[in-house]
Amino acid sequence: MVAGRESGPARVLVTGGCGFIGSAFVRYLLGETDARVLNVDALTYAGDRSSVDAAVAECGAAGRYAFVRADVADRAALGRALTAFRPDAVVHLAAESHVDRSIDGAAAFVHTNVVGTHVLLEAVTTYWRGLSQAGRAGFRLVHVSTDEVYGDLGPDDPPFTEETPYRPSSPYAATKAASDHLVRAWHRTHGLPTLVTNCSNNYGPFQYPEKLIPVIVRNALAGRPLPVYGRGDQVRDWLFVDDHARALWAVLGRGTPGETYNIGGHNEVRNLETVEAICALLDELRPDSPHTPHGQLVSFVADRPGHDHRYAIDASKIERELGWRPAETFATGLRKTVRWYLERPDWRSEVSGADRLGLRLGVAVAGAVPTPGAVPTAGVVPTAGVVPSAGVGAAGVVGHPA
Ligand SMILES: NC(=O)c1ccc[n+]([C@@H]2O[C@H](COP(=O)([O-])OP(=O)(O)OC[C@H]3O[C@@H](n4cnc5c(N)ncnc54)[C@H](O)[C@@H]3O)[C@@H](O)[C@H]2O)c1
Repeated sequence: MVAGRESGPARVLVTGGCGFIGSAFVRYLLGETDARVLNVDALTYAGDRSSVDAAVAECGAAGRYAFVRADVADRAALGRALTAFRPDAVVHLAAESHVDRSIDGAAAFVHTNVVGTHVLLEAVTTYWRGLSQAGRAGFRLVHVSTDEVYGDLGPDDPPFTEETPYRPSSPYAATKAASDHLVRAWHRTHGLPTLVTNCSNNYGPFQYPEKLIPVIVRNALAGRPLPVYGRGDQVRDWLFVDDHARALWAVLGRGTPGETYNIGGHNEVRNLETVEAICALLDELRPDSPHTPHGQLVSFVADRPGHDHRYAIDASKIERELGWRPAETFATGLRKTVRWYLERPDWRSEVSGADRLGLRLGVAVAGAVPTPGAVPTAGVVPTAGVVPSAGVGAAGVVGHPA
């Protein structure tokens, strides 16, 4: 091990490692640890290999990284990946993650978040049972979930703890809640060493431009309206994505199987304040923009059906037991984030239509809009210049339900 590097599991299989948080976690593993990484991702509309590939090259980690394109609901593909890569940890981030899309059509959410998690549990349990006694004892499966499973809070309610009952509001949150229950059941029933994390809203580089912060930055730069749901008074508890990546590594290395850890940034901010903060940063960083002051572009739009009013996380357990704390405040993290989007106008610039314009999804009659991100054929897709780990076999053909 290189001096100064974070210690932990040597071989980590990450699902969803081409998404926003998954790619941050893979970049962390390659940049800050000596772990070997197998990234299993179906490359839906939300997945982008470039979120990882540059980091692989930058940290000279090509020999420690491999990619397999596969659906987590493809049992045979997962079995082959597990047998060939022989991980001592799996971190499960693959998911459909956008609430508005789950309102338009929940089928892809049930497929990936519920069925996919079940198939992953089956495949991992089979693999885990075949390990030596020491291998079984040291193995970990971390299931990455959201604070949205807890529902929402009134203005004066205490933040969510690990004991807060589940009360999901959206189809997205309901499917994540189902997956959390499955993971806990596999621990209790089969003894699989699983851990669940429930994290607040993330922000940072490489977020698909359909979520609030990238939508606002992109629209503001182009002089387009900045859509704010309702009156913009929904409260979110923001966490910089790299802090989340560090938290996952702490849970992986020091967490207790069977336990749940809430992860949050102590940054409760109203959505309108977030938009105003981005506009102020753009006014400062792009003073010559013809759209300054960018705050004039704010446009209030009809609220999302069933919109949760407030989320807030009590992260004292992970701080106390695992010694994790967020490094970024909202001010420092937001500045880094806005700067990154300014420096990377090319990133996902192909994204078009409602996503690019930041138009509302989630207002169509359920089923009227096709489910997102049909997954084309799977297979081992080596990163340019990266040799997949020896023996990782070809994944099967996959496809989302219509
Ligand atoms: N974004 C947030 O603020 C946030 C907060 C807390 C928890 N989470 C959770 O973290 C995880 C990652 O979220 P994200 O924002 O990075 O999501 P994302 O939508 O940016 O990325 C999801 C990734 O999963 C892949 N994927 C989707 N379906 C798949 C399938 N069937 N098989 C294999 N890969 C598949 C996609 O290609 C993509 O790379 C999710 O489980 C989400 O519920 C997200």
